[in-house]
Amino acid sequence: MTPLLFTALAAQAQAQELVRPDRDGSFWLPPAASTLATEIDAVWDYIYYVDVFFFVVMVVAIVFLFVRYKQKHEGERTADIKGNHTLEIAWSVGPTFLLVAMFWMGFKAYMNSAVPPADAYEVKVTGQKWFWTFTYTTPDGKTFDSDKLIAPKGTPVKLLMSSKDVLHSFFVPDFRIKKDVLPNRYTVLWFEAPWEGEHQIYCTEYCGDNHSRMLSTVQVLDPQDFNVWIREKSAAGPVTDGPTLFATKGCAGCHSIDGSTLVGPTLKGKFGTQEKLADGTSVTVDENYLRESIVAPAAKVVAGFSPVMPPYAGQLTDEQIDGLIAYIKTLN
Ligand code: CUA
Repeated sequence: MTPLLFTALAAQAQAQELVRPDRDGSFWLPPAASTLATEIDAVWDYIYYVDVFFFVVMVVAIVFLFVRYKQKHEGERTADIKGNHTLEIAWSVGPTFLLVAMFWMGFKAYMNSAVPPADAYEVKVTGQKWFWTFTYTTPDGKTFDSDKLIAPKGTPVKLLMSSKDVLHSFFVPDFRIKKDVLPNRYTVLWFEAPWEGEHQIYCTEYCGDNHSRMLSTVQVLDPQDFNVWIREKSAAGPVTDGPTLFATKGCAGCHSIDGSTLVGPTLKGKFGTQEKLADGTSVTVDENYLRESIVAPAAKVVAGFSPVMPPYAGQLTDEQIDGLIAYIKTLN
């Protein structure tokens, strides 16, 4: 048992170093093309080899015992065995170590995949029947769309995802990332691709007739090519114009962007901070909180302010809300 455990720990340590460029996939797994993939594959390999080991041990034992006790000998009687402490402790404690190692490796890989690095480049992902849209924000707070996910090599990329209609699920097998995409709420995934290349995106939650054709690709580019692509795309004209929306939809009347306090709190440097609320609790200013504060502002009122903001539910499209949130983030 112990050598197996050490093999697992060594595999884990190797995974931390970085993705093995030679990992072309196997009978069980597609190619590994993100930094998370190797860590997740290490957990998978560990569980797989532990299973294979015990499968062989058990089948051999079954066959041996079957043959051994099928034989009949005249006058032979089975020994009167009451128990065996050594054996019982061994088969309890040994597997405990193996299972704790499984939990530890799995939990660590899960936490790494669940929390994107703070400096990640952000792309908004929108799922709808039956296609994916990828929205990029320019430094001046405007957005533009792409039907493919274009990502820079060697840079963590955070995916901020939501749906326009039903439940979808965003899945890139080569990156080992998958998460549900819901209406009226944001979910998050992230990845870092160490090499250029193209990878398949699937929808992996049944969402109607064309679910199986709700496909797209991730294209990983050299950072220089990525910047060229961004410049060309943004020159073609924005989809949403955060600064103009902010002015024309009435936001600017109550919320400053320079740090001064008007009827409502300023939005300068607000994203990512902790906000104290009127009911004494506090909340992190993330995408879901900003969205709620736009469509239903009375739900969480900031301490020191009156609940006078009108709800914008139905007044703004999802794109406009996304665009405003993208703009508010640029105020940091
Ligand atoms: Cu979208 Cu299945």
